Amino acid sequence: MNPAPSVTIVVIGAGRLGRVLTRALRTAGFNVLGPLRREQSMPAADIALLCVPDAAIPAVAFVARPHVRLVGHVSGATGLDDVDFSIHPLQTFTGSETPDVFHGIGAAIDGRTDDDRELAAELARALGMTPFTVTERAAYHAAASFASNFVLTVLDAAEQLANAAGVENPREMLAPLVRQSVENWQNEGAKAALTGPIARGDEKTVARQREAVLDKELFDALVAATRTLKDRA
Ligand SMILES: NC(=O)c1ccc[n+]([C@@H]2O[C@H](COP(=O)([O-])OP(=O)(O)OC[C@H]3O[C@@H](n4cnc5c(N)ncnc54)[C@H](OP(=O)(O)O)[C@@H]3O)[C@@H](O)[C@H]2O)c1
Repeated sequence: MNPAPSVTIVVIGAGRLGRVLTRALRTAGFNVLGPLRREQSMPAADIALLCVPDAAIPAVAFVARPHVRLVGHVSGATGLDDVDFSIHPLQTFTGSETPDVFHGIGAAIDGRTDDDRELAAELARALGMTPFTVTERAAYHAAASFASNFVLTVLDAAEQLANAAGVENPREMLAPLVRQSVENWQNEGAKAALTGPIARGDEKTVARQREAVLDKELFDALVAATRTLKDRA
């Protein structure tokens, strides 16, 4: 099926991704129904796009199937057991973003058949995303967690320490350092971008930092991982 704007897409799930995806599909010119909430009955459409928690995908796909020609989901971790195709936008969404949030980001796509995969790729492109395929979903999804969720865990630790050190507006003060680190990593990779006491082999300073840190478990784990990175061939 060619995802021309004449195609009708019903978005199921009015959560973080479902809300913004609905707006973006509308902006791209598709006939969009929804986002459907739990209690709403399923209308007839060409495509059902499931934006529900991963655990709900089998049941929601089962309900949607008789009303549409194709069923897809937007999960990064879930395979194609219950759907025809998947599009996983590689971005974090809160639901309040504007439709252009999809412009220029990647989307992992998959499909049961070549046609289904192509439909997923075309839908991704219609929203301004660059489609790509993955061979190992769990590893791919873990990569996304490292790049987003775990970065936030580390940044929260930085914010708390800066707060304890008396820095006013710690997020504002730390953000340029974070942005520059991300930019350097994007351009040259982590090993080349690494600076600071571990990169310099300054163990005295690392030990002094450790004394000041409350969460020594997190600090020790990160120091060990950073040493491994520094020593990597
Ligand atoms: N948010 C992101 O950053 C992001 C990024 C990429 C991919 N995704 C994917 O997007 C999907 C949804 O994630 P999310 O973050 O948008 O989750 P979410 O904010 O929790 O939204 C899920 C929505 O699904 C609804 N729902 C649950 N069961 C349903 C049912 N049987 N019928 C209709 N609606 C139902 C929930 O309604 P209730 O509130 O009533 O339970 C909720 O509104 C997941 O597959 C996730 O992997 C999310």
